[in-house]
Amino acid sequence: MTPEETEQCWSRYYEYASSRNPRELLIQAMRRFGERGQFDGKAVDFGCGPGIETMTLLNQGWHVLAIDYQAEAIERVEAGIPEEVKPRLKAQQASFEQVDLSEADLIWAGFSLPFCPPQHLSEVLDNIVNGLKPGGRFAGDFFGPRHAWADEDHVTVMTEDQVKDAFSSLKLEYWIEQEGERDTAMGIQHWHAYSVIYHKPS
Ligand SMILES: C[S@@+](CC[C@H](N)C(=O)[O-])C[C@H]1O[C@@H](n2cnc3c(N)ncnc32)[C@H](O)[C@@H]1O
Repeated sequence: MTPEETEQCWSRYYEYASSRNPRELLIQAMRRFGERGQFDGKAVDFGCGPGIETMTLLNQGWHVLAIDYQAEAIERVEAGIPEEVKPRLKAQQASFEQVDLSEADLIWAGFSLPFCPPQHLSEVLDNIVNGLKPGGRFAGDFFGPRHAWADEDHVTVMTEDQVKDAFSSLKLEYWIEQEGERDTAMGIQHWHAYSVIYHKPS
């Protein structure tokens, strides 16, 4: 895909996804920090897209670093934020491998790491593990090898063992594998994904 095609593709996704509810996996991860997910620590929304989860985190008191390599994603995030929570948001246009993730309580990557170029994936996953504070958590999704987009050159799939190896220094708190036909921004597609929460020991 050319950069223009990539931009159009993500723009269509942002429009498609803009009215959905916050992802259940993030709500679960937030609730592990405090009642109703309220916490004043630092979260990173890694591949924030239209910013629905950034807003969810801000609403519960978190300080959020929202990262995406698409200018439109950053514009959407910034446009949707009320003035009173703006001091707790930093939005940065950057690629996954360019970001300083240090001292994060929560790194959230909702369906974004499957789009990390394969040559950067292991470095990015190491940065996530090292960027978490002791007591911090990673929550996110990975595509499995039977996903419909597994052969696309902009998609990176992982086996269950590869995901578990990448986070082997953390404690697994939640794991679900989902497979079946699903309605997506690209129509009905075969879906194969793992959604995970890991905890870094204190
Ligand atoms: C499927 S969307 C998910 C967005 C949002 N987290 C959600 O759950 O709706 C993937 C996001 O990752 C971003 N992305 C893809 N590759 C990236 C990269 N190499 N660096 C930074 N962001 C990237 C895309 O721009 C897109 O916004």
